[in-house]
Parts: sequence; C-alpha cells; structure tokens
Amino acid sequence: MSLPTSVSQTFRAIDVIRKKRDGMELSRDEIEGLVNAYTKGEIPDYQVSAWLMAVVLRGMTRPETTALTDAMLRSGEVLDLSSLPGRKVDKHSTGGVGDKTSLVLAPLAAAAGIAVPMISGRGLGHTGGTLDKLEAIPGFNVNLSVAEFRRVLATCGCAMIGQTAEIAPADRKLYALRDVTGTVESPYLICASIMSKKLAEGIDALVLDVKTGSGAFMKSEKDAAFLAELMVETGERMGKQVVALITDMDQPLGKMIGNALEVVEVVEVLRGHGPADLRELCLELAGWMLHLGGVSKTVAEGKQQSAKLISSGKALETFRRMIELQGGDPRVIEDAQRLPQAQHTMPVASTGAGYIASIQCEQIGTACVILGGGRERKEDSVDPAVGIVLHKKVGDRVAAGEPLATIYYNAEARAARARQLIEASCQIANVPPAEKRPLVHRVIGGSK
Ligand code: URA
Repeated sequence: MSLPTSVSQTFRAIDVIRKKRDGMELSRDEIEGLVNAYTKGEIPDYQVSAWLMAVVLRGMTRPETTALTDAMLRSGEVLDLSSLPGRKVDKHSTGGVGDKTSLVLAPLAAAAGIAVPMISGRGLGHTGGTLDKLEAIPGFNVNLSVAEFRRVLATCGCAMIGQTAEIAPADRKLYALRDVTGTVESPYLICASIMSKKLAEGIDALVLDVKTGSGAFMKSEKDAAFLAELMVETGERMGKQVVALITDMDQPLGKMIGNALEVVEVVEVLRGHGPADLRELCLELAGWMLHLGGVSKTVAEGKQQSAKLISSGKALETFRRMIELQGGDPRVIEDAQRLPQAQHTMPVASTGAGYIASIQCEQIGTACVILGGGRERKEDSVDPAVGIVLHKKVGDRVAAGEPLATIYYNAEARAARARQLIEASCQIANVPPAEKRPLVHRVIGGSK
C-alpha cells in the first residue's frame, strides 16, 4: 500500500506498534495519529491488528484510554443537542440475556422530562440487542437520519436508533477488525468502543449497567468492576457524569427471552406489572437517570417518581408516541398478537423435583440464538417471533414433569437443540440455594 507523502513523513504506524509492544505509554498525538490515519484508510489492517494485539497484551494507562476514546469519538460527528431543553441522559448495558431495560427506560426517563438520545446495538454472541427487539415491532425504523432522530427526540423526549455512518466511524472499522483478530476482549478497547459511541450522542450524563455472572461477557465481578471503573473514569475525564451499576446476569432478566416476547414483557412493566427482578432493575436504573438528569434530588426520589410515571400511564404513553414517530405500529401495546408470532410452542419439562439451584445463563441465550432469535453468523437474519419463556427462576420449587420453560419456535430441529440446552442449563437441588444473589452488586461513580 503506498501512503500519501504527508502521512508517511509525519506518522509512522510501525513506531507506535513497537512502542506499545514494548510496554511504553503512547502520547495523545500518537494515538490520535493512528486512529485518524486508520479511519481515513491511510494505514493497513495488518498494522492496526498488530497494534490492537499489543494493546490486548500490554494494556493501556488511563490517559491512553481517554486519548483513544476521544480520538474515536472525534472521528465522526458529535451531536450538539444544546438546543433541546433539559439534560440529556442515556443508559448503556454491556449485554445480557432477557435484558430489555432500554425499551422501558428511554420512555420512562423521557416522561420525567429528560431527553434520552439512545444509540444502540444489535445482539452480540449469546446476548440480545436493543435494535433487534425494537424491529420486532412492525414498521419500527431504527435507521433514522440524524435530522429525524433530533425531530423524534424533540417531539417525545426519546429516540432509539442504530449507529449511523456519521457516529464514531473509527469504532465501526476497529470493531470489525477486532472481531476477526481475537482482540475484542480488552477492557481498554471495550471502554473506548462503548464510550466513544455514547459520548458522541451529545449527552450530559450516562448510566452504565455492567453485567456480571454466567450470562455476561464479564463473568467475574472483579472483571466487571474493572471495566466499570475504567468507563466511569474515562467519562469523567471527558467532563461527563457517569455511574456504573454492576448488576446480576447469573440468570436471565425477567421471564421472556426473544425479540417479540421481550417487547411483550416491556409493555407489562410499563403497565406496572411484569416480573419483579426486571421491574426492580428498571426502577433502580431510572432512579439514577432521573438523579443525574437533575429531575430528582436523590436516587430514591428518582425511583419513586419513576414508579409514579408508570402507574399514571405516562411512561407507556411516551413509549406509544415514540413507536408512532419511528414508524412502528403502536397497536402492539393493546394487542400483542400484532407482534410476530411463532408457529409452535413446546414445553421443557423438569426431569427432577426440588429447587432450581442455578441456571447457566449463557446457554439460555445460546438456545435463543439457535432458535433464530440471534445471529450465528454476521449475515444471518433474525426471526423476531421465536424465543423462550421461563416458568422457573433460581430458588423456585419445581416438581418432576412440571414445565421449566416454553419454547416458541418455527423450526423443529432448532427447537430440539434449544430444548437440550435449556434442560442442561437448569440445575436442580434438594434444598433452595443458601444465598440469593443481589440484583445490584455494586455502584461505582455517580458523584455529581
Ligand atoms: N460493545 C461495544 O460497543 N464495543 C465493544 O468493544 C464491546 C461491546
């Protein structure tokens, strides 16, 4: 590859690769030079792959992580939402199984008077993605232009779209390269990737939901806390208020897993019902969004206000408005049959009696992917109708033959594989588990 003279004279990727390989700290200019040159196509994939691997093996200092986040953020457009009244607050989850809190939180916080400009992703590995869930609503358009995104946001207080070509293009290129070079699993690279996209939304504050447990990418609480601290510190260095809640993903959140099924559960929660764990986590995260958004003095007050916005129907009304404005069919709220429906259902019966001791959460997520609810390859399309409804959660009593779950499916062979996985993932014991894992393990950051 021949390089433009100006680039080859001022920036040598090989020097930056060697320096990181040898464990030295890179300057802001070096990091910026690498990110800018790569985004413009001035350095080849093989050099950036080598650099990424050096980062995975050597790590990064906090100033390096901030510089990388900043360079990736400024590789594209940073939305200026200052013309909209009120503070702009978003929430981001590191990904889980049955994690549909974003669909509850965006309209809930918007109903409280906060602007929520949410740019989300698709399912990754065994985890579900917000965009796939929204697209289960017939007509819902997640590919709005920036101008349309602003219009929806100004009209109903929240808008939910996918990453546009203008937002953090460096992340798009780097993420695709990391995916195929074994360089996804670096907390520094994950932090820069997530924070660059979130900070490009023009937000004032961010609530991070960092998952830990068998269904999370960060299985141990120690690793989750390390990533959370890194993201909080990076956000704060860039002048934003950031809090991270380390929350439990050792079993699926709520009972429904699968895109259309999860929309059903979101509506239940917005009606004041739904499973207790999902409701509680939504209120906890909403409490933080309202607090950082300046709407409530404390998190506890924010939770109370959020509960009232649910019971008054205002949060559900905002959800309906957002669906309409983004081209979706709002009648799904009253009539769940308007969502895509699987052709068949199959119960998964318990082979033993006792108490559910544990649920291998990643396997439940994988079972949903196998049904077609997620992608096994990048080019796969998603079947919005399929999924799993859990009838038992950890600690519940179960009789032999009683259904543990119901599978919603469109292909027999896929359902049989999913059933095996679900059966294998539920461990049954004679006595209930000694300790209940908390829903929120720790809170990091959050100072105003
Ligand atoms: N999600 C992202 O957006 N980036 C990562 O690197 C990992 C998860």
